[in-house]
Parts: sequence; C-alpha cells; structure tokens
Amino acid sequence: MQRLSKQPFLLCALLLALAALVAPAFGQATPETGTGPNHKGGAPFRAKLSPPFAEGVTLVMSGRVLDADTGKGVSGAVIEAFHSDIHGDYDMDGFEYRGRILTDEQGRYEFETIRPSSYGPPPHIHIIVKADGYRSLTTEMRFTNERYPEIDRPELTPKLVERKVRGGTYLEGTHDLRLRR
Ligand SMILES: [Fe+2]
Repeated sequence: MQRLSKQPFLLCALLLALAALVAPAFGQATPETGTGPNHKGGAPFRAKLSPPFAEGVTLVMSGRVLDADTGKGVSGAVIEAFHSDIHGDYDMDGFEYRGRILTDEQGRYEFETIRPSSYGPPPHIHIIVKADGYRSLTTEMRFTNERYPEIDRPELTPKLVERKVRGGTYLEGTHDLRLRR
C-alpha cells in the first residue's frame, strides 16, 4: 500500500523535474531589440549571406523558429538577417550580408555567413522574423569579442562551436527564435 501511494508523488516529482529541464523552451519569447539604422528591405531569399571569398571567419547558423507558448516549430516563417562586414560597414548599395531565409516543416533554418565584427556595440546579426499568426519579432544574435567577453543579455547569444574541416576552421552557431502570438 505504502509503495503504491508513493507512486503519484514520485511521478509528480519526475514531471516537475522534467518541466524544469525544458522550461527555457516554453513560455518565453525571444527578447526584442531595435533594428538600427541599417535595415534595407527587399533582401533576396538565400541561405548564404556573405559574398564569395568574403574576408572573415565562416559562420554557419542554424536553429528553429518556435512558438513561445507551445515550443512547436513554426514552418514557413521568414527570417530576415543582416549584418556588417568585417570592417563594420553595412552594404547600403547592394545586399551583401543580407538575406531572407524560410523555415522548413519543423521550423528549422540554416544560413551561412561570416562572424560579424564590431563597429562599437557587441558584434551582432540583426534579425526580423515574420510568420502568419504571430507577432513580428525584431531581435539580434549577439556575439562576444575581446571588448565584450560577456554579453549583457545571454539569451540573445548563439552557442558557438569551432569546427575543423578540410584544413580550415569555421564556426557552427545554434540559436532558436521564439515567437509570440
Ligand atoms: Fe547593427
């Protein structure tokens, strides 16, 4: 009898522990930031933002666009990403380091570019996400550097892993974007 009566309690404890583990995945939308003065509409749909042979460290970013409440992937979301080149300049004439990416059936995205450098603030990629039925999200992916070894808002910072391949090195970044209805 005693053993049986403990089971619901244990189950509850287990569920609570699980909930705590997955808690960051639910309920919290990605924080908003401004777009800054360098936004330019009409960026092409493409998964490579940097021009061929661009200076800088190659960065491959991937992750998912998620419903902040349910944690489910949002398919068909449009992510607009733009950032400065290695000298800190934005391309205002053309669309270098600018692009729009569509999420797949599970809400996944991937794009390649270079790790942005700093022109004052912490290095960042501007992000605007739009999806049917959701509020549009304007945010940033922020990166650390010598001047900013830590970021004030870690929830904006992608996880970075250095990968070596074919004699070269690139950065693999992962970051989810959570939308509010
Ligand atoms: Fe910026």
